[in-house]
Amino acid sequence: MNFAWCLLLFLVLAFKSPLNLAAYTNGNENCPAERQMCLKNGTYNHCAGVEARYPGKTMETGIVYCDSMFCEPEEFQHDYITRNHDQTPHLNKWKRTKIGERATLHDICLLSSGMPVTRWCKLQNFRAHWESTDDWDPVVCLRRVREHTISGDLNSLHDDILEGRRRTNDTQGRREMSGIMRNMFRQRDRTLLPVDVHMTGQMLGTLMQQDKDAVVSVDLLSVCKEIMSCDSKVLQLSAKLNATNSLLSQFENYMDALPDQMVPKERCGEVVAKPTSDETETATTGVETYDFADIGVQALITSNISVFFANPDCGSITGIAIYSAPAEDRTTSASGFYYRFIMFTDDLAEIKQESHLETAAFLPKYLWREVKNRGATYLIFKVYSHDALFVENSEQRNRRPRSKVISISIPGLDNNKLTLPLPILLRNENLRDPDTKALSLGSGCGYWNYETWLSEGVTTSGSSDLLTDPIIECHTYHLTQFAFLVGGSYRTNDLGEQVLITPINAKVLDIISIVGCSLSLLGVLGIFLTAALFKSWRSQASTKVLLHLCLAMGLQMVLFVFLNTDDISEELVANGDTVRCVALGAAMQYSILVLFSWMLIIAFLQFQRYVTVIGIERPRHYILKAALVAWSLPLVPTLLVALIDPDSYIPTTEQLQTDTGICYPSGYGLIFGVVLPVTLITMSNLVIFVYVFYSISHSLSQSVHKSERRMVVKQIRLSIMLFFLLGLTWIFGIFAFMKAGVAFSYLFCITATMQGFVMFVYFVLLDSANRRAWVGLICPTKMELDVVKRTTELQSMTTSSTNYTSRSQN
Ligand SMILES: *[C@@H]1O[C@H](CO)[C@@H](O)[C@H](O)[C@H]1NC(C)=O
Ligand SMILES: *[C@@H]1O[C@H](CO)[C@@H](O)[C@H](O)[C@H]1NC(C)=O
Ligand SMILES: *[C@@H]1O[C@H](CO)[C@@H](O)[C@H](O)[C@H]1NC(C)=O
Ligand SMILES: *[C@@H]1O[C@H](CO)[C@@H](O)[C@H](O)[C@H]1NC(C)=O
Repeated sequence: MNFAWCLLLFLVLAFKSPLNLAAYTNGNENCPAERQMCLKNGTYNHCAGVEARYPGKTMETGIVYCDSMFCEPEEFQHDYITRNHDQTPHLNKWKRTKIGERATLHDICLLSSGMPVTRWCKLQNFRAHWESTDDWDPVVCLRRVREHTISGDLNSLHDDILEGRRRTNDTQGRREMSGIMRNMFRQRDRTLLPVDVHMTGQMLGTLMQQDKDAVVSVDLLSVCKEIMSCDSKVLQLSAKLNATNSLLSQFENYMDALPDQMVPKERCGEVVAKPTSDETETATTGVETYDFADIGVQALITSNISVFFANPDCGSITGIAIYSAPAEDRTTSASGFYYRFIMFTDDLAEIKQESHLETAAFLPKYLWREVKNRGATYLIFKVYSHDALFVENSEQRNRRPRSKVISISIPGLDNNKLTLPLPILLRNENLRDPDTKALSLGSGCGYWNYETWLSEGVTTSGSSDLLTDPIIECHTYHLTQFAFLVGGSYRTNDLGEQVLITPINAKVLDIISIVGCSLSLLGVLGIFLTAALFKSWRSQASTKVLLHLCLAMGLQMVLFVFLNTDDISEELVANGDTVRCVALGAAMQYSILVLFSWMLIIAFLQFQRYVTVIGIERPRHYILKAALVAWSLPLVPTLLVALIDPDSYIPTTEQLQTDTGICYPSGYGLIFGVVLPVTLITMSNLVIFVYVFYSISHSLSQSVHKSERRMVVKQIRLSIMLFFLLGLTWIFGIFAFMKAGVAFSYLFCITATMQGFVMFVYFVLLDSANRRAWVGLICPTKMELDVVKRTTELQSMTTSSTNYTSRSQN
């Protein structure tokens, strides 16, 4: 182990600088001379990329030394969680990253939420600088969080690109890369994580710096479609790294660079035999491509995003309308909607009246003439079927989109401003599927500014209550993505840390459990040893109860520490040995239930001793009878769970992956087979405990004798003891189970696993008779000096004739 570690360190050090620098300096073709200053000038910058990250900042932030636009790889030490929550140190390396981006690590390093550990590359003194990690907590992360993720493959692809093993500066290399990415995303039953969205955005960034390619664009559309249809929680987490915005803006920019290839003037009027999509290609990419060269239109269509390129000089097409139902003049797409191209001579009011209209946007003749005079040649329309990629980071929102999102781009138009309004029609989804929180106030058309939805420069026309209008009409004076927003108060789910116990806590809890259980086992052994050695103690009824309890506790600890660990469970599951797994899980469940049965019996005996009136007769062999009940009753829930739902004992693959899986009931098995009985017993114990405590303190306040005070000390000692013994600790466990906080997990873990030890301290070390017996055994001479007095509070626990309450009241 140590040897491998040293070898790795040596290899990393040996290959550090020379090799990598060679690969990285190549990327800077933009900078002819070293140390050249790149001055930000208007919207154009020689050092591509920097100005986009620092819009509207002072001039200084736009100036960068050309040869230091990237944070170069830097070593980083962190721990990986391995099996059993152990941590192994790992020497990792931050990937080369451009200013204004968040770097990920060379070897994948994930938090349990699927977020990568990232580090800012900042602009400082005209050059790229890594964010300081001095005030970071030690980083502990996972190599993978779940099965069937593509993060590992995506990370290797990213590494290959960064380190020059895969070339992206030629067409073949780029197409290969985008094809690999698309295939990863199109795998069935793969799970997407926030890290995937983040890395995809970064890889798109690499492609953005190269020549744009129509073939690659189909793959990108396919990837974006897959990301759009993934879990909203994943996108919400990704948004914390700005990954959704970054992806969206790169996607938009890539598409906007393509119309020269898609709808060039030379192809105007060219007759295309079959504009329909190639079926085999659609099957691999998931994208339908339609070439209407004769009218100057190309369409890339998927169920989630579609892109339409138009060259109005070919066929006067300046707009697009999307419908949810077919009609004579509409084209059908395999993705489940219908569309029609709009000519600049069409009439807005007529389009608005058309049935089943979802969204439409077009440039009327006067507007097209105006933008054409300003240098525009092409139009690009992107239709997003929902707002999944438009994620706001704020927790509280006062509007949310309730329509498709349509994006309009006109390349070549400086600053994207229009002097005449461009009309957009959007179907109000609030009518189809009303949102109870929606308010008319604040509703209207809006645009996305890569942070939130705004309305400046966008006007909405409609009735006084927009929420009841089926089609919303918007007019805009600038170009981005638009949607119809409804007002209201919307809270974003706070995903927070996603998991309650972070890995570092889990490790600490593990240590506490192991130490606590071992101490407990020693305590239990000590008690058995004492019982074996001293017959007088052994023969007391109270000791018998205690021994039963210790037996159950010992069984549980042995199972927990030695027999039912996640390693053994993993092995059993891997070998398909479900019977043994169920048996182990059932044994575990049984031992816990037996323990609780004994706790209830002891609480009951305490109750009888301290509270009930004199003269209660214990039935003959009551310990034996209690033992029969305590050891047989728990069989009922155990057998029920084992017979009805044996699968609930098998840990899930996800649990095994994260090394938290043991053979133990889960789901309903856990709730009805463990939590419910434990809760009931704990509640009754709590009631008894409070009642006994009340009686003791109540009767003590009436007595002031010295002997009584000694009694008080004993009672307090006993109370602390009871606290452990009666399983009140498990209340913490129930809170922890209900995810009330990490503190409860700690409290539970410390108190529950120490029970055996505390019992040993209380019943053997603090018990004067037992102490004397031990002292006598170890040094027999001392024994003879003592007068053996065999009255302990333990004795009276099970004898009803000398009742404490009655005595103090006399
Ligand atoms: C800004 O850059 C453009 C193109 O590089 C150049 O033509 C123009 O003169 C520059 N303007 C200023 C003020 O430096
Ligand atoms: C691509 O880059 C490699 C070095 O990384 C270089 O050798 C090759 O000539 C480049 N190819 C093109 C087409 O620019
Ligand atoms: C997030 O990304 C978008 C698009 O790349 C960019 O405009 C915006 O400034 C970024 N926001 C932050 C906080 O980095
Ligand atoms: C987005 O794409 C996914 C996968 O193809 C599909 O299940 C989902 O219905 C699409 N969403 C919409 C709104 O069409």
